[in-house]
Amino acid sequence: MTQPPLAPHVRLADGRAIPQVGYGMYKVPAADATRLALTAIELGYRHLDTAALYGNEAEAGAAVRESGLPREELFVTSKVWNDDHGYDETLAAFDAAMERFALDRLDLFLIHWPVPSHDRYVDTWRALVRLRDEGRVGSIGVSNFHAHHLQRIIDETGVAPVVNQVELHPWLPQRELRAFHERIGIRTEAWSPLARGRLLGDPVLEPIAAKHGRSVAQVVLAWHVAQGTIVIPKASSPERIAENLDVFSFRLDDEDVAAIAALESGERTGRDPDDD
Ligand SMILES: NC(=O)c1ccc[n+]([C@@H]2O[C@H](COP(=O)([O-])OP(=O)(O)OC[C@H]3O[C@@H](n4cnc5c(N)ncnc54)[C@H](OP(=O)(O)O)[C@@H]3O)[C@@H](O)[C@H]2O)c1
Repeated sequence: MTQPPLAPHVRLADGRAIPQVGYGMYKVPAADATRLALTAIELGYRHLDTAALYGNEAEAGAAVRESGLPREELFVTSKVWNDDHGYDETLAAFDAAMERFALDRLDLFLIHWPVPSHDRYVDTWRALVRLRDEGRVGSIGVSNFHAHHLQRIIDETGVAPVVNQVELHPWLPQRELRAFHERIGIRTEAWSPLARGRLLGDPVLEPIAAKHGRSVAQVVLAWHVAQGTIVIPKASSPERIAENLDVFSFRLDDEDVAAIAALESGERTGRDPDDD
């Protein structure tokens, strides 16, 4: 088999590199997860995004082992769930996650949500810093953090996350947060980059896709990667999984970018992180 094209890597502030497109594993049932993650790897993905919440860390770990690729060629992300906030709780949750993965180390570990009502995310962050310092995880970051949550962990620990994984798509382009990230050197990673597929029927996108001879999903993902965003689309068929990686061989023009910018509505598919 010829080697499929791989996604480029982007550099994180800690010097490590992350493949710009990853395979998102939320709602990938455990029974299918090893097969689908292996399919993604065969099709050229080198990055898997899972979480304790998703119930498929063990299956993601099995895919890494069964792929036959050297471990350092694959990038695996997981996240500590809301119930495990707190210093000791997070260290224990990490140990449990690594037992499920059956891998020696993780590439990126994130705080899944800040859960401000529990007000424990600073201690959770201190635990991630320790795991990184001990070399048990390559990079550490957060997810669903607003700028004020980011500022607080930086102020209280002196350590900035290298990634903030947030809901981001043309309806919710997160302009202010992205500008904040750029000032600090935090990479923006988009979850639900296709707004859970809901964006794909948008009549504005169809003519753009037709003009480039691409699918609507590819147009949206090309919009993301052109801005330097890391994307982790989830798909369930080999055709879609392959399509979602093939987004580097064409470029949107200024007219396309302006039409996509006009879709901004502020609509979220998930919760506002401050509501928890
Ligand atoms: N940190 C967080 O709080 C958080 C929250 C949500 C998600 N995430 C991460 O982000 C990943 C992606 O987000 P998501 O799964 O919510 O949404 P998404 O990737 O925006 O959209 C997935 C949906 O789009 C469909 N789809 C994917 N590719 C397609 C294509 N080429 N053509 C047509 N339809 C396509 C999929 O259908 P099929 O599956 O039927 O193919 C699925 O219904 C997750 O898997 C997870 O890893 C993180």
